[in-house]
Amino acid sequence: MVRGIHRPTVAKVDLGAIKINIQQIRSHMKPDKQLLAVVKGDGYGHGAVSVANAAKEAGVDGFCVAILDEAFELRESGFTEDFLLVMGLTEVRDVALMADANISVAVSSIEWLEQAIPLLALRKTDNPLRIHLAVDTGMGRIGIRTESKVRAFESFCQQHESLHLEGIFTHFATADGEDEFQVERQYEVFKKLVASMKVRPKMVHLANSAMTLWREDYETDAARIGIAMYGYNPSDTTLPLPYPLIPALTLETEIAYVKQMQEGETISYGARYRAYEGEWIATLPIGYADGWRRDLHTLPVLVEGNACPVRGVICMDQCMISLPKAYPIGTKVVMLGESHGQINGPSEMAAAIGTIGYEILCGISQRVPRIYIDSTHE
Ligand SMILES: Cc1ncc(COP(=O)(O)O)c(C=O)c1O
Repeated sequence: MVRGIHRPTVAKVDLGAIKINIQQIRSHMKPDKQLLAVVKGDGYGHGAVSVANAAKEAGVDGFCVAILDEAFELRESGFTEDFLLVMGLTEVRDVALMADANISVAVSSIEWLEQAIPLLALRKTDNPLRIHLAVDTGMGRIGIRTESKVRAFESFCQQHESLHLEGIFTHFATADGEDEFQVERQYEVFKKLVASMKVRPKMVHLANSAMTLWREDYETDAARIGIAMYGYNPSDTTLPLPYPLIPALTLETEIAYVKQMQEGETISYGARYRAYEGEWIATLPIGYADGWRRDLHTLPVLVEGNACPVRGVICMDQCMISLPKAYPIGTKVVMLGESHGQINGPSEMAAAIGTIGYEILCGISQRVPRIYIDSTHE
C-alpha cells in the first residue's frame, strides 16, 4: 500500500501520551499484576512497532497481538525476548515456528494440541510451545467451556514435554457496559474452570481495558490493555473514565482548494448538495480510501476550532466542507482530535455512524502516514 507522503493528510501519534497512559493505568493497578500492551491491528491504527517501543519504555511486562504475523513483526523489530501472546487462533501447521520464536499462543482445543505434537518435532530449538488455554465463559468466541475438557487439556500438556501450559485466560463480553450480571456470571464460570486444574498456571488472566478501569477487584495476574493505553474510553460514552487518559492520535489534513459558490450550485457525486449564495467551500485531500468513511458526512470537522459541516458525499480521496469564511489554502483541518478546545474524538465519530471508537481508529488506512511525536520530550 502506498503511503501518501506528498500530501498533507497525516495521523499524528503522541507516543508520550501512550507512555503517560500506561503509567496512569499502572498506578491504579495492584503492584504484583502484569500490564500487557495490546498492539494488534497495527496498534489500533497507531503503528504496532512504534507503540510497542513506547510501551516498553513505559515498563510494560509484555505484548498481546491477535494473529501470528503480528507477533513475528514484533520479534523481527527487535522484541526478541519479550513476553508475546497471540490471543487469537493460529494454524497448527505453524507450531514449530511459534515455539522457535518463543511466542505464547492461545489454544482452544485438545485436537489442536494432538496435531501439534508431531509437528513440534520439526522445531529447531528445544523451546516448548508456550500455551495459554482459552476458556469461553460467555463471550462465545473461542475457548474450552467445560471443567472436564480443561482437566483433559491440562493432563495432555503434562504428558508432553514439548508443551508448556503457561496460562489460562478468558475475555468478557460486557465489561464496557453497566450490566454487572453478565460480568459476574462469566467471572464465576472462569473461577470454576481455573479451580478444576490440578496445577494453577503461572498466568491466570481475564482483564481488558474495561475490566481494569472499572472492575479492579476481579482477580487477574495480568491486564491486557488496548484501547485505554491509546487514551480512549472503551465504552465510548456509556461509562465515565475513572481517571483521565490522553488521546494519542490526531488525524489532520489541510485545505487544498477554496471557492465561493453561487446559490444552487451543487457539490460532489449525485449533485445532492446545493450551496447557498456566497457559501465558502473547501476541498480536503482525504476520503474513504483513507478511512474517512462515506457515512461520516454528518460529522463536522474542525478548522481553527470551528465545526465545519461536510457538504455532499465523501469521495474516495477528497471531501468538501463548508467554511464560515474564506480560509487560505494550507489551513490546518483536524478531522479527528482536538483543535482550539473543540474535540472530534473517535467516540463522537463512532456515535455519528453507529459504530465504536475502536473501528474508527483501526479504519484509518495505511495510505495515511503515521507521524510520531513525544509530548513528554517537548
Ligand atoms: C482477548 C482480548 N484481550 C484484550 C483485548 C484488549 O481490549 P481493550 O482494547 O478493550 O483493552 C482484546 C481486544 O479486543 C481481546 O480480544
